[in-house]
Amino acid sequence: MEKIAVIGAGMIGGAIVKSLVKEGYQGCVIATRRDAEKLKEFESLGASVSTNNKEAARKADIIFLCVKPNDVEKVLKEISEEIEGKIVISTAATIPLKFYKDRVPKAKFVRTMPNIAALVQQSFTAYCCDNNLNDEEKRKVKRLLDVMGVSEEVEERYMDAITALSGSAPGYISIIIEALMYAGLKVGLPRELALYSSAQAVLGTGKLILETKEHPAKIKDMVTTPGGTTIEAIFELEGSQIRQALMKAVEEATKKCEKIREKLIEAKH
Ligand SMILES: NC(=O)c1ccc[n+]([C@@H]2O[C@H](COP(=O)([O-])OP(=O)(O)OC[C@H]3O[C@@H](n4cnc5c(N)ncnc54)[C@H](OP(=O)(O)O)[C@@H]3O)[C@@H](O)[C@H]2O)c1
Repeated sequence: MEKIAVIGAGMIGGAIVKSLVKEGYQGCVIATRRDAEKLKEFESLGASVSTNNKEAARKADIIFLCVKPNDVEKVLKEISEEIEGKIVISTAATIPLKFYKDRVPKAKFVRTMPNIAALVQQSFTAYCCDNNLNDEEKRKVKRLLDVMGVSEEVEERYMDAITALSGSAPGYISIIIEALMYAGLKVGLPRELALYSSAQAVLGTGKLILETKEHPAKIKDMVTTPGGTTIEAIFELEGSQIRQALMKAVEEATKKCEKIREKLIEAKH
């Protein structure tokens, strides 16, 4: 039976474990972290748990590495002998494939960028593969990433921008939903109704754009009646800095990836 180890079962790692279990993964899942108490919830879901990364990596055919970027080097060192020849899928932001490959040349590394919607199997996960994965292994990687939502292979040079865009988007969209909720309160809606209607409107608009494949400008046009209510609101928004603020936010987060990487990696050499 195929075995997957999820090393660092925190927020993202935990979402991967839960998604695998929920989607009926036929193999065995081993979740690790240092805090044994916090592993109990995975055990109750039917996953195996361990505080021993080395042993989990030895037993596994495929390894998800989900610790914080700062902890990657240490954990990689710990499991390096156990992962040779195996697929290792890392979720760590900013760390390039070269970093992994330099340390364990015989492992087959995949760099991914999911987002926290993985908790409800709605992540957009971008990934890039080292050149020693064959097509069948790449298909396997995609099948596994798709349990968290949807995934797409991209060139590694896009990973920082993706980190800043879809990786962090749940943060940006939450600000928008919160602002809409408060707008609802301002015009007299009960709190729960204001939040529910805002979140569902964001979800529905995303789905509409994905399913109709229409440009967002077309959707905006579809809801704008001449002389109606929506154009009053759009007029206000267009006079604000909302578009530039979002562009600037993503640009700054992209630049920050580079700075973090320099601090994490280049500084060590
Ligand atoms: N959060 C996001 O939205 C997001 C999105 C995309 C990508 N990512 C990336 O995903 C990775 C995980 O992020 P996260 O937000 O899930 O962080 P997190 O919740 O802190 O999870 C990391 C986990 O690693 C465990 N850990 C630390 N050292 C360990 C060790 N030596 N051996 C085994 N487990 C260890 C920690 O648990 P213990 O303290 O119990 O060991 C912790 O639960 C990061 O590299 C991040 O860049 C995060």
